[in-house]
Amino acid sequence: MIGFDIGEIASDTYYDDEQEGLEEQIIIRFSHVTAENTPKGRTASKFAELLEDKTNGKVKVHIFPNAILYNDTNEWEAVQNGSVEMIAPATAKISRHYPIWQILDLPFAFPNYQAVEEAYEGKIGETLLDRLEHTNVKGLDLWYNGFKQITTQESAIRTADDFSRLHFRTMPGPVIQEQFNQLNASTSTLSFNKTYHNLEVNFVDGQENTLSNINTKKFYEHQQYLTISNHGYLGYGVLMNRDFWNGLPSKIQESIHEAIHEATEWGRRHAIEINDQHAREIRLNQSLEIYTLSAEERAQWRQALRPVYIKAEEAVGSDLMQEIKTIRENYAY
Ligand code: LMR
Repeated sequence: MIGFDIGEIASDTYYDDEQEGLEEQIIIRFSHVTAENTPKGRTASKFAELLEDKTNGKVKVHIFPNAILYNDTNEWEAVQNGSVEMIAPATAKISRHYPIWQILDLPFAFPNYQAVEEAYEGKIGETLLDRLEHTNVKGLDLWYNGFKQITTQESAIRTADDFSRLHFRTMPGPVIQEQFNQLNASTSTLSFNKTYHNLEVNFVDGQENTLSNINTKKFYEHQQYLTISNHGYLGYGVLMNRDFWNGLPSKIQESIHEAIHEATEWGRRHAIEINDQHAREIRLNQSLEIYTLSAEERAQWRQALRPVYIKAEEAVGSDLMQEIKTIRENYAY
């Protein structure tokens, strides 16, 4: 013990920079319903990584994928009451609470990915995010997944008439119900994480989703046909609990904004390729019979679904409806 002063050593060991940091650490719990290797799962991870880097580890994002914490039916309440700080529901699910959000789920609203980006990053996206100001959520951005396709069990879907009398699982959202009603199909609104089971027990005949969701949730195990229709786009609103946001130092808010926008940009550049990778896996797996709509069949579906726009216009308003028409007209669509 010669030369040591025990007292000093002991008091030195109590001083710990790391522990001081821990007390100040900010945790963001981010709940979502898809698998990790989907556009949403990967963009969320990118966001977490960027934010931790930007804040030197002061902010940690804990991601809860696959509806392990909250699912479609309770995540909205969970973010409102602060049980989690972040969620990223499909835009259709937000339209349940804010009907104006229906604009993004209109069938055949977008001729291609570029048109989706113009809507998400232009006046439409900005208007929709601003509209959330009246709740305890702050709309941070819109994230990308991909175009939806149809899967069925008993018979392949080619023409709009083929939907008749079939029963589909849908996300909640008035436009989505109306889309199937126009095609004389019935629907059940079911949580994403209950879809597999409802396909398995034949409660529903089919469903619509992106290729990444179809593949990661193994819907092909209980579906025989896949129709590549690209009839609607599935993307997300990224939402944060507003009280939590308001309580953050402005420097952290700035870092969140930067990380979100960089993650959005990453997602925009990678979502197509992630869905393509899942399309390749689906094709290799060969358990689904795949049919791609011809241009004539697409035109026929589009025609059959025109009345959906008339109903939606009441909720969406003529301004935003005009915005989307203008985007389409730029592509002569
Ligand atoms: C669905 O419920 O089918 C999708 O919204 C799941 C998702 O979040 O992509």
